Amino acid sequence: MNLAVIGLQFGDEGKGKIVDFLAERFDIVARFSGGSNAGHTVIHEGREVKFHLLPSGVLRGKIGVLGNGMVIDPVKFREEVELLRDLGIDPDLRVSRRAHVVTEFHRILDTRDDEIIGIGTTRQGIGPAYVAKYRRIGIRAQDLLSEDTMEKKLRMLARLFNLDVGEAEIREEKKKLLEQGKFIKNYLEDVEIWLNQAMDSGRSVLFEGSQGTFLDVDFGTYPFVTSSSTTVGGILTGLGVPPSKISGVLGITKAYTTRVGSGPFPTELQGEEAEILRDKGHEYGATTGRPRRVGYLDLPLLRYASMINGVTEIALTKLDVLYSFGKVPVATKYACGGEEYLYPSASIDECKPVYEYLDGWTSIGDENLEKFISIIERETGAKVTILSYGPEREATALRQL
Ligand code: GDP
Ligand code: IMO
Ligand code: MG
Repeated sequence: MNLAVIGLQFGDEGKGKIVDFLAERFDIVARFSGGSNAGHTVIHEGREVKFHLLPSGVLRGKIGVLGNGMVIDPVKFREEVELLRDLGIDPDLRVSRRAHVVTEFHRILDTRDDEIIGIGTTRQGIGPAYVAKYRRIGIRAQDLLSEDTMEKKLRMLARLFNLDVGEAEIREEKKKLLEQGKFIKNYLEDVEIWLNQAMDSGRSVLFEGSQGTFLDVDFGTYPFVTSSSTTVGGILTGLGVPPSKISGVLGITKAYTTRVGSGPFPTELQGEEAEILRDKGHEYGATTGRPRRVGYLDLPLLRYASMINGVTEIALTKLDVLYSFGKVPVATKYACGGEEYLYPSASIDECKPVYEYLDGWTSIGDENLEKFISIIERETGAKVTILSYGPEREATALRQL
């Protein structure tokens, strides 16, 4: 059984927590897209651990894989490995030689570009690293081992992206990256070959998605998206895994909705109502610390995300945050220009949500929660199998079907 874990909203659905919960049943946990824009939180022995690049499952002693579809900042990579070593865990990792590298130059470009574009990126250099990849001038993880290649590529990057950097900065960056190359070298692998062979010999894989469906470069709320394929298709190209090897897709959704950064958000709340939900849910970004925008559950988004990813089961998180809500509003459809729609279209920003008001729940066994769950199951065609009612591993229930 190889299971994909995919965010069904705008990221931060609780992927880290659920991957940590599930990891003990798998041999390998693999990331396939994004980079240190991700922030996956796991509570481990009473301590909050935030993963940006490494798959969260390494906390459980599983082999962690960083696929070719990722963009990796080697400085951040080293920091995360060292943080885990401080916790007494020396992670067993395989990093794709084909993964692309994020440098200081990409970070400068991200900040420079976002000041003009206004997406509100995490400024981790993600977009520029993918642009360089598709422009065929990207630095790959294996290039960190070659001084000549590094120098040539850094020069090209500076020139083609009109970076205001001189000789000294190029030399400095090259030196820094070569140093990181010495650290990452021991982890490099032809991951697509290694992983397929591991699966063929019976080892199981949990694919850890990053971001969420509506941040996908194709299916998200473009242009307010990240620069990678965050949906299930990203596994195929981001790890070299064929579709026949993905046996199930677990979608994760909060019981409400959040978003960090700019872009359409049909059910977004404002004012005091927003503050109450944000405070109860501790909705502040794991990577940037920015307050998350908050709103109620949006079924048109969930229907669409379940369709795009072929979701077979759902983990519902943050159920405890709504314990004190007497009524729980749920957007069941959109009204746009006199018509009603069950799915978001590419012009989602012109739509207004239509709400149904459900009775709230005060515990996991509550009948009202069962009603909420059955609406989600009916509308997505997937079974809700995992309920999460707190950030800790123990605050998780497997649902009896
Ligand atoms: P990810 O990016 O999808 O891994 O999610 P984040 O870690 O960025 O954000 C989820 C936040 O919610 C983290 O602070 C988690 O510790 C926390 N969390 C996860 N599940 C639950 C839950 O069921 N209830 C509560 N109260 N917090 C949760
Ligand atoms: P996890 O994996 C929430 C958002 C940014 C911005 C947009 C583009 O923790 O769910 P980028 O830096 O990727 O170019 O920013 O995407 N974003 C996230 N929002 N969770 C994430 O990851 C995110 N990764 C990127 O806020 O709006
Ligand atoms: Mg996050």
